[in-house]
Amino acid sequence: MKLSNEDLCKLNNFWTYCKENQYFNVGYPESADFDYSILEKFMEFSLNNCGDWREESNYKLNTFEFEKEVMEFFANLFRIPYMDSWGYISNGGTEGNLFSCYLARELFPTGTIYYSEETHYSVDKIVRLLNIPAKKIRALSNGEIDYKHLVENIRNDKQNNPIIFANIGTTMRGAIDNIERIQHDIALLGIERKDYYIHADAALSGMIMPYVDEPHPFSFEDGIDSISVSGHKMIGSPIPCGVVLAKRHMVDKVSVEVDYISSRDQTISGSRNGHNALFMWTAIKSHSTSDWQRKVRLCFEMADYTIDRLQQAGIRAWRNKNSNTVVFPSPSEAVWRKHSLATSRDVAHIITMPHLDCREKLNPLIEDIIYDLQPESRLPSVSGQN
Ligand SMILES: Cc1ncc(COP(=O)(O)O)c(C=O)c1O
Repeated sequence: MKLSNEDLCKLNNFWTYCKENQYFNVGYPESADFDYSILEKFMEFSLNNCGDWREESNYKLNTFEFEKEVMEFFANLFRIPYMDSWGYISNGGTEGNLFSCYLARELFPTGTIYYSEETHYSVDKIVRLLNIPAKKIRALSNGEIDYKHLVENIRNDKQNNPIIFANIGTTMRGAIDNIERIQHDIALLGIERKDYYIHADAALSGMIMPYVDEPHPFSFEDGIDSISVSGHKMIGSPIPCGVVLAKRHMVDKVSVEVDYISSRDQTISGSRNGHNALFMWTAIKSHSTSDWQRKVRLCFEMADYTIDRLQQAGIRAWRNKNSNTVVFPSPSEAVWRKHSLATSRDVAHIITMPHLDCREKLNPLIEDIIYDLQPESRLPSVSGQN
């Protein structure tokens, strides 16, 4: 491949820009703590995982073998016997949510989907795409779904097949919906477990919750029917990707035979990125359980350090239990733009990812926020938080 000097220069400048900015995403939950250099040699191959990795495919350059092992790992992590599960490596958390909502809609064609107003923005798009009747439920001040409002809506809708879109870590506040409470409340409405669906959006926290000392209910054993996780968030990947896992007997109901690839097809995309399976496989093979626990602990330590420093300056900073998302009043635009902070209405957050592995990396940002927000930042406290 030949490029002009000008184009080469453009690429090199972009590489320098990436190097300079790779650790600046404090508002977004992407880990930069990864090294996949061992996989560079695969860049010469067009690796494509179209179809179902459980089947033989006519397309030879696939990484199904690796994808299978990744799915075994996640089945174990999310506590479902591997043979009872089915899932695949997606393009990201959004595709996993789309797949799961599609599955739920196929299983419960007259169901209404319920999700909190703190849910990731892409879910509005998903319900429109799938044309599912949907209700947005209020959120509590810490970001959890408002359980009373949820039950009230299901009851008023006389909905016998509710589809619950639960958050295991909301985007803005890292809040975790209480799966146990939701099931308890729905049972009180007289709806049997087989008649409703619970999807868990665990984009970031799917790789946090299994590694904490006191996890919230987050697994298939806790009553979840499908889970979506982003691969480029806690795990880290140069290409956005994700993992979606569901109950096999449910997925089998929506699968179709495709003669063109001589395989079955349940996935949303046709062609799927085969390199992503190599990234995910390498990540899980090169980390032990205690490695992930150490990473999660480090994220929490950095979050607590940030909270302490902001609180000492009189700034109302907090985090939900089992979350590395530090929430505080939004600073001025100059500050959130300078540090790529994410803001929503009157709050901002910092997500302490594993690459923010020392206080020195956080100090300049914390000092800018303190300088910007003092002294008018004392907000009333909110419930359900650390
Ligand atoms: C809670 C939640 N769900 C879904 C998504 C979308 O995930 P992805 O960007 O991997 O598609 C995000 C992204 O930040 C998120 O925070």
